[in-house]
Amino acid sequence: MDHPSTPSSTLPKRVAIITGGSSGLGREFALQISKKQVADEIWLVARKKEALEEVIGQLDTPGRAVEADLTSPQDIQAIADLLSEEQPKVTFLVNAAGFGKFGDWQTISDAAIDSMIDLNCRGLVDMTRTCLPYMERGGRIIQVASAAAFVPLPHMNVYAATKAFVLRYSRALRWELHGTGITVTALCPTWVKTGFEKVARASGGGHDVRHLLGAQEPASVVRAALCANDAHFAVACASIQSLALRMIGKVVPNCVTMAGWEVIRKL
Ligand SMILES: NC(=O)c1ccc[n+]([C@@H]2O[C@H](COP(=O)([O-])OP(=O)(O)OC[C@H]3O[C@@H](n4cnc5c(N)ncnc54)[C@H](OP(=O)(O)O)[C@@H]3O)[C@@H](O)[C@H]2O)c1
Repeated sequence: MDHPSTPSSTLPKRVAIITGGSSGLGREFALQISKKQVADEIWLVARKKEALEEVIGQLDTPGRAVEADLTSPQDIQAIADLLSEEQPKVTFLVNAAGFGKFGDWQTISDAAIDSMIDLNCRGLVDMTRTCLPYMERGGRIIQVASAAAFVPLPHMNVYAATKAFVLRYSRALRWELHGTGITVTALCPTWVKTGFEKVARASGGGHDVRHLLGAQEPASVVRAALCANDAHFAVACASIQSLALRMIGKVVPNCVTMAGWEVIRKL
């Protein structure tokens, strides 16, 4: 991964980078950040260029569609090259690209498992490491984890584990960045009404979780995340359910939590 060898020139362009910007939470982050006037340009990263361009058409800030598959090291390198060429100041990074699958260890394909780990964990870390050299005091990072990070979840086992990774990584990175003025917040929502469910159900065990109880609108989740990040919070729960799960994860033994989840996922 190439990092800049020289400091950026005077008055670099301020750029907000949002992965997963073509849909759901990433799209909503783009809409809300574009109103905050914290960037001269918003770069939206995802695989579907047309969907990215549609979102860009709705922004109050000029946008750029960056077509990339974040499971591909070559595509991450292409983003690193773009940054090196343009030398912007990255004022905001939101890592929202990610997906989950419902099903047990036998019903989710090997390819989906690998891709989930690659995107949710490696892609997020690579994007963070690629952007950090272009960030300075006042820079903001929001890592989209999930309330699934707080407890182990059978029938979503790898997904929940990837989100626990994101939460731990973000917390430790936040500590390392202490004193730099760069704020890191991990967003840990429960269900949100996005494209997530359709992707999660497209597996051999797609109905292992029957209903996404209490699903929230993306707008309220993103508002809560931006407020938590403004307040320099390490974690944004964005709902009472998520906060409760966070507390439960700290005090209740995992076997009890998993038995409770076994009931909830069949409701
Ligand atoms: N919705 C929920 O209930 C919920 C709850 C907690 C946490 N989350 C987390 O929220 C984040 C956003 O998901 P969402 O709910 O907004 O779902 P979504 O609507 O399906 O959005 C997922 C985004 O990720 C992008 N993406 C998927 N694979 C990619 C790849 N290989 N490379 C680059 N981009 C890729 C998609 O764009 P393309 O398909 O165009 O690439 C899309 O923009 C995820 O990390 C998810 O785990 C969701």
